[in-house]
Amino acid sequence: MEIQGVAGGRRRRIILVPFPVQGHITPMLQLGSILHARGCSITIAHTEYNAPNPSTHPEFMFLGLSDGLGAGYDMSFDKILGAIYIMNERCGAPLVEYVEKQTACGEEIACIVHDNIMFFVDAVATHLKIPGIVLATFSAAYFQALVSIIPRFDAIFPFQDSMLEEPLPDLHPLRYKDGPFHPTLDNDIAEPIRNFYRTTNDIRSAVACICNSTDYLEHSSLSKLQTHYKVPFFPIGPFHKLASSSSNSPTNLQEEDPTCLPWLDTQAPLSVLYVSFGSVAVVEKRAAVETAWGLINSGRPFLWVVRPGSVHGVRWTEFLPEGFQEVVGPDRGRVVKWAPQRDVLVHPAVGTFMTHCGWNSTLESICAGVPMICRPVFSDQLVTARYLSDVWKVGLEMEVIDRDVVERSVRMMMIGEEGKDMRKRVVDLKQKVESCVEKDGCSYEALNELVEFISSLHHKD
Ligand code: UDX
Repeated sequence: MEIQGVAGGRRRRIILVPFPVQGHITPMLQLGSILHARGCSITIAHTEYNAPNPSTHPEFMFLGLSDGLGAGYDMSFDKILGAIYIMNERCGAPLVEYVEKQTACGEEIACIVHDNIMFFVDAVATHLKIPGIVLATFSAAYFQALVSIIPRFDAIFPFQDSMLEEPLPDLHPLRYKDGPFHPTLDNDIAEPIRNFYRTTNDIRSAVACICNSTDYLEHSSLSKLQTHYKVPFFPIGPFHKLASSSSNSPTNLQEEDPTCLPWLDTQAPLSVLYVSFGSVAVVEKRAAVETAWGLINSGRPFLWVVRPGSVHGVRWTEFLPEGFQEVVGPDRGRVVKWAPQRDVLVHPAVGTFMTHCGWNSTLESICAGVPMICRPVFSDQLVTARYLSDVWKVGLEMEVIDRDVVERSVRMMMIGEEGKDMRKRVVDLKQKVESCVEKDGCSYEALNELVEFISSLHHKD
C-alpha cells in the first residue's frame, strides 16, 4: 500500500525532524527511506549542527534549520542538555516559514514526525494544524521504564547504595542500578535532569508514536505504552532491515575507516571481538586503560573503535598503555576512529560485540546474529543491557570494568561454552526478529497500518 494524496496519486509530503546525534539521525533517515518507498515525499528538517549530507539521499529534500549552535558546536556530554534547549527555542520559526511556503505552493503536508527530544515541533504542528507523530529511537522497555519512574521520582531518589541490586518496583527485570539515568550523577537526580525527562517523555498532542522495535521483542512494554499514551503505537522495526540500504554509508556522519573490512578478511571465522561504544558515550580514562589490558590479555583478535574525544581527558588514543601497538601487533588488533559498523557486524570473522548497548547497535548486532558483551554507559543503555542479559539472554553484562573482568568476559564469550550457547540463542533471535519485517510479519503489518493511518490524516481545521 502507498500513501495517497486526497486527490489520489499525488505524493504527500512528510517532514522528519531528527535530533542531531548519530544514534538518532540514523533511524530517522531510515524511516524516511521506508516511507519514501511507500510513496511519500520526504523533507528532512535538520539542525546546522551535525547536518546530514544531502548527496547521500538525493530522493529527499533537506531543510537546514538555524539552530543557534552552528555546524562547529562542541557537543560534549556535559553540554548536551543546554544545547537541546537552545535548539528547541530556535528551530521553530524556520520550520513554520518552510511549511507555510510549501503549502502556499499547493503542497500537502501529511504530518510532521519528530524525535521526542525535538519537542518544539509539537507547538509548530499545533500552530499549523498539521498532525504530529513522535519517533522513539530507543527501546520500548526504556520508554516504559521512564513512564513508570517519572511520576515516582521522589519515591525512588535518592536511594541507598545497598539498594542497587534490589528490583525496581513494578519494573521487572530492572534493578535500581539499571535505572535509566546517568550513573555518574548523584543518585538524587538533579531538577534539570528530572525536567528534561518530563519534557521529552510528554508526547503532548502527537497523534501516534513510531518505534524502532518489534512487537515480537517488546510486546509487553509496547502494550503498556499504548495504554498509557492513548494513541496508536507503530513498532515497525528494525528500521535498518526495512530501509533500502542495509550498509552504513548513507546515514553515517563520520568518515569510516576503509581498512576495517580488508583487515577482517584476513581473520579466521568468528575469531574477532568488535568493540565500540557508539557516538556519544564518554568513558573514564581508567576504564579505557583496563579495557586495553583486558583485550591484550585475552589473546583474541579485536577491532576497537575509539572515537576521538570518547575517553575523558585525552584527545584520542593517548590513554593506551605504552607499547600497546607493539604488544598487540598489526595482525591481532586494530584501533580505528570510526568503522562501517553494520558491515563489520555481518562479517564472518566477527564473533562477539563489546557494546555500550545503544539501541541501534543492539538491533544491528541481533540482526547480524552476533552475541554481545554489555558495557552500558548511561540512560537507555542500562535498561537495554539488562534486557540483553536477563530477558533475551544474548548478552553478558560486565558489572565492573577491570582488566581481569574484561579478559574473562572475552574468553568466556569467544572460546567458552557460555559463548557458544549465547551464539545459538542470538542466531535464533535473529531469525525471529528478521521474520518480523517479512511479509505477514508483525513489523510488516504495523508498517501497513502506519501507512494507512498516515493516509487518513487530515489537517486539524
Ligand atoms: C544514542 C544513545 O547513546 C543510544 O543509547 C540511543 O539508543 C540512541 O542514541 P549512540 O550512542 O550513538 O546513540 O548508539 P547507537 O544507538 O548504537 O547508534 C550508533 C550508530 O552508529 C549505529 O547505527 C552504528 O552502526 C553506528 N556506528 C557506530 C558506526 O557506523 N560506526 C562506528 O564506528 C560506531
